[in-house]
Amino acid sequence: MSRQTDDVALLRFYVEAGADEAIADQPVNRLAAKPPAATNIRTQAQKTPAQPRIDRRSELVLGSPDAAEATAREQAAACQTLDALKQAVAAFEGCALRDTATNLVFADGNPEADLMLVGEGPGAEEDRQGLPFVGPSGRLLDRMLAAIGRDRSNAYITNIVPWRPPGNRNPSADETTACLPFTSRHIALVRPKVLVLLGTTAAKTLLGTTQGITRLRGRWHDYSTGRDDNDGQNAIAAMPTYHPAYLLRQPAQKQQAWQDFIAIKLRLDAK
Ligand code: URA
Repeated sequence: MSRQTDDVALLRFYVEAGADEAIADQPVNRLAAKPPAATNIRTQAQKTPAQPRIDRRSELVLGSPDAAEATAREQAAACQTLDALKQAVAAFEGCALRDTATNLVFADGNPEADLMLVGEGPGAEEDRQGLPFVGPSGRLLDRMLAAIGRDRSNAYITNIVPWRPPGNRNPSADETTACLPFTSRHIALVRPKVLVLLGTTAAKTLLGTTQGITRLRGRWHDYSTGRDDNDGQNAIAAMPTYHPAYLLRQPAQKQQAWQDFIAIKLRLDAK
């Protein structure tokens, strides 16, 4: 194999392994232990036996999902506006996805809209632009919205996690749990008439169920806004449907998604 072919094969391997973003000009070996400051080498070694190096920051970020969720819950509850919520999410250190993402992807569209859609998490293009659903699945979503007379001027879009999972993997349970209080508060602040849950992650996370999207889609569910719920009286009508990325892979399922979107339009048009 030529050197060039080797390089291309290596790059392909990196992309498949999820390393598909150049974050800096020079590679950094994060596994290499940092040498102690030169002047201290002798005194440190004499004073204390060698300790394993612990990255306290990642321990803080990754170590306790419960603590992360509790912090998110407290911070989200304090937000009275979407701007405040966006700032709180941007500053939140309880989800390690923030460390690998290029941009926060908070939302797009009209927050006054009666239609709100929630996806899973940003992909590569969304991460680059800082906006949800602007890549290939976003283009399909825009066509689906157009089919019911909607676009981003009269619909509002966000995701379960606001940072891109590396390599487009699914967000982990810890990541969705840590971010859920922000997503819940986001929905409570927008208070749409209709909530569309795009794909398994959004549907399971927001409806608190283990059922898959095939069983959940096509029928209305009550999404509870928690404290504001007034014993279910203020629940929001939620329709789970297939994620556009899934529809790109399985175009035969578009027919069912179209049925869901007709139901969504009828509900939105109802007085
Ligand atoms: N997939 C998602 O779930 N969200 C996006 O923003 C883009 C792709």
